[in-house]
Amino acid sequence: MSVLRLPKHIAYSQGLSNEVTKSLSDSTAQALTLGELLQFSVNDIEATPLQYSPVQGDALLRQEIVNFHQQLNCHSDTLEADNAVTFCGAQEALSAIYQALLKAGDEIVVLTPSYPSLVTMAKSKGVVVREIALSADNQWQVNIEDFTKVVNEKTQLIVLNSPHNPTGSIIDSTLAEQVLQLAQRYQCYLLSDDVSQASNYRGLTLAHGYLDYSKSIVVGVMSKSFGLAGIRIGWAVTPNKALLKILIAIKAVNSICCSKIDEALACIALKNSHAILSRNNEIISDNIKLFSALVLRHKKRLSWYPPQAGILALVEVKNIETMTAWSNALAKKTGILTLPSELFGLQGNYFRLGLGQKSFAQTLVKFERYLLETPPC
Ligand SMILES: Cc1ncc(COP(=O)(O)O)c(C=O)c1O
Repeated sequence: MSVLRLPKHIAYSQGLSNEVTKSLSDSTAQALTLGELLQFSVNDIEATPLQYSPVQGDALLRQEIVNFHQQLNCHSDTLEADNAVTFCGAQEALSAIYQALLKAGDEIVVLTPSYPSLVTMAKSKGVVVREIALSADNQWQVNIEDFTKVVNEKTQLIVLNSPHNPTGSIIDSTLAEQVLQLAQRYQCYLLSDDVSQASNYRGLTLAHGYLDYSKSIVVGVMSKSFGLAGIRIGWAVTPNKALLKILIAIKAVNSICCSKIDEALACIALKNSHAILSRNNEIISDNIKLFSALVLRHKKRLSWYPPQAGILALVEVKNIETMTAWSNALAKKTGILTLPSELFGLQGNYFRLGLGQKSFAQTLVKFERYLLETPPC
């Protein structure tokens, strides 16, 4: 029997579940209630027949997904609803993509630290993971030289995630074009995990043209920029019809199809993306200002690079023994969860800061009180 373990960040959170009442590490934007979402359109949901959904996903939803992707990006080939497949979250999409493309001995390239399963799903299959290690010395930035050092004939897949979990750095349109050319040169697959691409509150140029390349796949989801993690819908979009067929076959044996209700709710959210994303992006921007002010007041204790886009950033806590001991003590005293960066593959005294929640200001008051009560060692 293979020994499957919980992803480290989930195991850590569960270990503290008796202590924790609020989080400073959430990766999602602020959730709407079901009632708030249905204010956009209640008719669509009431008319939903409670039957199986198509394995590939509801056709109208897939059209909305493709439209959403095209609004954010700039490829020249027009995508159709048939280029998308829905999944029960981005995680199921990523898992299906890894299953479809990777076998023991293959090599992949991943930015680290990372959303844990981008690395662990590969390692558990015996895939060789070539890491591009982001560093605070470079403000977590990555450039094309970092990719050219590790991508070669053996590379089966390049995995991108921008805005990046957990650092908040981005791959802008220029770098995206360079990485795309590199993938084409070595004819490897290119996967872009775009789950928080729409959290672009600074109006940066994040558009990419990956889907002009037949070996590329983009993953999106309801949980991050939309903040709708309770709608368990993610998706993969690719121009590659042969790969789509395999992804649909994998989904058919894993979950058969997504919930019809979730698909109908996701459709409403995508049709009203502008209103939902504007509200969420305003919350993130306000929270960045609050945290920047807090860091200024506690320069000797904390430092950070505010995220360029997305919902997450890393915060360094200075003059402490270990991040885990510090996070545990904070949780015990205040009920606040902070996820140490080692859970995402980065050693050092950093924690992942989530900036998406409306309750952030309130949580920060408690967090600051704790800082004032516990002088550094
Ligand atoms: C970068 C990234 N990709 C994928 C996922 C999975 O998203 P979901 O949990 O909605 O399936 C996450 C969740 O934290 C994530 O941060």
